[in-house]
Amino acid sequence: MASGSGEGEKKLEGPDLTTGVTADTLADGDKLLGHAKGEQVLLARVGDDFFAIGATCTHYGGPLAEGALVGDTVRCPWHHACFSLRNGEALRAPALNPVACWRVERRADRIAVVEKVERDPLSPSYPDQYRDAALSKVVIVGGGAAGSAAAEMLRRCGFRGDVTVVDDDDGAPYDRPNLSKDYLAGNAPEEWIPIRPPGFYDQYRVVFVRGRATRIDPRLRVVHVEGRQPIPYEALILATGAEPVRLTIPGADQPQVHYLRTLRDSRSIIDAAGRATNAVVIGASFIGLEVAASLRTRNSKLSVHVLAPEALPLERVMGRDLGQFIKSLHEEHGVVFHLQQTATRIDRDAVTLSNGERLAADLVVVGVGVRPRLQLAEDAGLRIENGVVVDEYLQTSVPGIYAAGDIARWPDPHSPKPIRVEHWVVAQRQGQTAARNVLGAREHFDQVPFFWSAHYDVSINYVGHAEKPDRVEVDGDAEKRDVAVRFISRENTAALATIFRDAESLEQEIEMERATPDNQ
Ligand SMILES: Cc1cc2nc3c(=O)[nH]c(=O)nc-3n(C[C@H](O)[C@H](O)[C@H](O)COP(=O)(O)OP(=O)(O)OC[C@H]3O[C@@H](n4cnc5c(N)ncnc54)[C@H](O)[C@@H]3O)c2cc1C
Ligand code: FES
Repeated sequence: MASGSGEGEKKLEGPDLTTGVTADTLADGDKLLGHAKGEQVLLARVGDDFFAIGATCTHYGGPLAEGALVGDTVRCPWHHACFSLRNGEALRAPALNPVACWRVERRADRIAVVEKVERDPLSPSYPDQYRDAALSKVVIVGGGAAGSAAAEMLRRCGFRGDVTVVDDDDGAPYDRPNLSKDYLAGNAPEEWIPIRPPGFYDQYRVVFVRGRATRIDPRLRVVHVEGRQPIPYEALILATGAEPVRLTIPGADQPQVHYLRTLRDSRSIIDAAGRATNAVVIGASFIGLEVAASLRTRNSKLSVHVLAPEALPLERVMGRDLGQFIKSLHEEHGVVFHLQQTATRIDRDAVTLSNGERLAADLVVVGVGVRPRLQLAEDAGLRIENGVVVDEYLQTSVPGIYAAGDIARWPDPHSPKPIRVEHWVVAQRQGQTAARNVLGAREHFDQVPFFWSAHYDVSINYVGHAEKPDRVEVDGDAEKRDVAVRFISRENTAALATIFRDAESLEQEIEMERATPDNQ
């Protein structure tokens, strides 16, 4: 998937909107891609109102003209970010920055785009609306997807008190999904990886405390951090994420065995890949397979073998057709699979499989799943059920403590029972909702889960959540890279996985939203 806006290199598309178009060019709910003063602009009509905003998504540069209009918002076709047509604001992650907003003028029956109105990324969007006047100290433990999005949202809500983020990873926050994709493949420069440029958090008075939170005392309302004075809070957001499941087989602790969660992990795999000849990936998880793809892309001379206990990669989550397609796609790129196998030992130069076979390996990457980091929450006495149990407002069993991201099990209104997922976009959006609720918004977290996974030039989008679907319906042909796989539970679509069917994925999201009890 392309990154960056790429504007300037491309020929401008559509009409010059500064000279205007007739009002009836667009019916209610229509959008038009054009340009103004050398930039691509999206003109949209909602009722009798016309709006113009930048046409390129601020996440990875998705084409908003190919997205969906919903009320006075537009959704990006690539990873479903949502922008306000009124002011360009990024209403939903994964985009965090607004797109430019353009002033529109009506001249008789013509609509013309006149000038660009730039917007500060954290300018208060909800001024005073949710401000809890009594609150002056919010602490966030974990500055990854959820924690960093929460910190920004507090400021976007006009919160002027202290915002402290405790994180033991000195690089956080960064674009974690990229660590197994373009960054690992050698196609993303370093400057794409941090979520924000240097100085950003200082500018918005978000204090990052680099250290490990060791204990929360909900009675005294303090967070203990290794080697520091306890940090007092009035409201706390827990966003400690997940950590890779570690292998315990003989030889698993050797230096050539890598896991991938952090930027440091990705860099050390890159370093090792420069010296390695034979890589073995243990586990055909999304991360395991993305690593296999990126290693092959980075160095086509590196042999890459993947071993996994299942008969077909990703079949459990994606169904048979997509599982088969993913396997063939990787094989076309030279990856060799050893399925229905586990690793029984790792030696300096080889991995032994359960069938006794030895695979030469001077680089081993383990991707056998993650487990949520729950210790802090557990020790603080929060209710835990394979995740931190939260209510529809993302509040835990202890008032004043919220949880978001990979650790949170929330009552998803689109699922029959509470769920916990490990998706970037969900984590960021939960962080945003938790922040608004800390300030008194009382907002349900009811957004439809969404994730994507990228392998070579193919991106799979998955909207919804289906643990055990009753049946799977396939429309199209995965081999032709044009497919939608529907996971049906109780005669409803619980989830939809698509390849190059972005519009359908967005439509499904919108349909599921409309079907939620709150929106009927
Ligand atoms: C390589 C990789 C690729 C991925 N690709 C995708 C993808 O394509 N699409 C997708 O939807 N999802 C993807 N994911 C999953 C996604 O990154 C996670 O769901 C998301 O990061 C979860 O956000 P979070 O805020 O809950 O946790 P994290 O982003 O993990 O952040 C948690 C933070 O808390 C800190 N922390 C934890 N405990 C403590 C403590 N006690 N004290 C101080 N700090 C602490 C950690 O250092 C970390 O910085 C990927 C994950 C990985 C690892
Ligand atoms: S490119 Fe628009 S959401 Fe990712």
